[in-house]
Amino acid sequence: MKHIFIAFITFCTLHLYGQIEGPEKYLTSEFHKGRREAFRNMMPANSVAFVFAYSERNFSNDVDYYYQPNPNLFYLSGYKEPNSVLIIYKDIQGIGPDAHNEVLYVQERNLFKEKWDGKRMGVEGAMSKLDFKKVYECKDFIKHSFDLSKFAMVLHDEIPEDIVNKGTGYDLYAMIEKFTKLSTQDKSDADKKKWYKFISSNLSYDRIQLFVENYLKKSPESVQNDPLVKEIINIPDVKRFNEIKKIVDQPTSGTDFFDYITKSLRKIKTKEEIEVLRKAIEISALGHNEVMKAVHPEMTESEAYGIHSYIHRKYGSENEGYHPIVGAGGNACILHYITNDKTKIGNSIVLMDVGAQYSMYTGDITRSVPGSGKFTPEQKAIYEIVYRALEELKKISKPGTTFTEINVKSKEILTEGMLALGLIKSKTEISQYYPHGCSHHIGLDVHDKGQYDALEENMVITLEPGLYIPEGSPVDPKWWNIGIRIEDNLLITKNGHENLSHMCPTSPQDVEKMAAQKSVFDK
Ligand code: GLY
Ligand code: MN
Ligand code: MN
Repeated sequence: MKHIFIAFITFCTLHLYGQIEGPEKYLTSEFHKGRREAFRNMMPANSVAFVFAYSERNFSNDVDYYYQPNPNLFYLSGYKEPNSVLIIYKDIQGIGPDAHNEVLYVQERNLFKEKWDGKRMGVEGAMSKLDFKKVYECKDFIKHSFDLSKFAMVLHDEIPEDIVNKGTGYDLYAMIEKFTKLSTQDKSDADKKKWYKFISSNLSYDRIQLFVENYLKKSPESVQNDPLVKEIINIPDVKRFNEIKKIVDQPTSGTDFFDYITKSLRKIKTKEEIEVLRKAIEISALGHNEVMKAVHPEMTESEAYGIHSYIHRKYGSENEGYHPIVGAGGNACILHYITNDKTKIGNSIVLMDVGAQYSMYTGDITRSVPGSGKFTPEQKAIYEIVYRALEELKKISKPGTTFTEINVKSKEILTEGMLALGLIKSKTEISQYYPHGCSHHIGLDVHDKGQYDALEENMVITLEPGLYIPEGSPVDPKWWNIGIRIEDNLLITKNGHENLSHMCPTSPQDVEKMAAQKSVFDK
């Protein structure tokens, strides 16, 4: 046992540690300050923005979930604790020594709580570490008076309805309660906004048709009769579709502006963000490679998950950036399968959609690997279609290409492949086997904020074609329970892209080669 452990450490030191070169420092206060400046520059005249922390969430009884900070608050401040709010003013407020254009309200220090739950930054910490000039405790937010009527617009994110009331009278619940009383409510038609938002963040016509069935038919007539909504339902060509997406993205209310500015900023990564994303993706790729080497029919889904998780933490990742999907056989065909507890993988494909979080930014890599280390003819046939789609999509991944074009192309190639194998008879049947979109921004969120129009330099996106044939599908049962997705992470460059997940194999030959390698987890 001991020598296996020593061999493992030696292996990691020699083969893994040396491969990782990353930033010595996480994002600095200058980075966050720069993001606030950029946000302020985009704010409308005479406006103010409120960015609240996310609520803490109860796991069970007296145990909470691991706290996930609001990405927007982290992006704009670097602060990661709950019960806090950042205020950004477009213009300088106050005069003389009181002049300021931003205020951060933070959790108070509390030695008793800190002994149990960990250190808090407090007012002084936020001033020195995050470089804010004006910081108060959240108690002060309740005491301070705010005259929001003097601002032309109050920007804020959608206010969630399920904030936990900790009962202190000055927690997040109390602060938001005070804020909603103060702020003028968004008077826009919420249903129409919901539909518009759907248009701007979705690209596939099939999904719009589904949305029509599930939601639009139940919406008020004013929404159903809206000219833009009607135009979209009648499926305009790609050019007009993109024009409409631009129109519906134009902000009008305070929540629209908040959404628009955070999307516009977060979709284009700064050099610091690219550095941490590079590292998150590199660590994610190492996890995938180690599982590929270790995979065998007796391995369980949760064991595969455990290897990812171990490698992530070993190389400095704080967590996974989203619930990992580690599904074998039929579970690979469940798109958001997160149970990850099948006893054995056997000879089926294990689909692993797992990304490490590093400095709050997440990778998002999927690989689909045969449990035996060798694809069966049916697995290989499906894999090759998906792989071809991925390779073709890479060829068009450059500035100017639209997300819609990527989605259309992906669907075309997957459809051709399934038609050629005789697994579908008509093009319309493809959505049964390929029901999702093919590309999204990654960053602080796995589905990161950003408009979905044309690719631009310094976006970091995924390409993720997939085919899923669950049991009971109207094809020969030999095809059942094959689920394949291959997902790479691309940095869009001036003239093309850099594949940030290139160190993790994708071709069927390279996957088999990696699976044939020895693994420290073999015994
Ligand atoms: N991991 C979620 C996705 O690939 O979109
Ligand atoms: Mn993805
Ligand atoms: Mn993914």
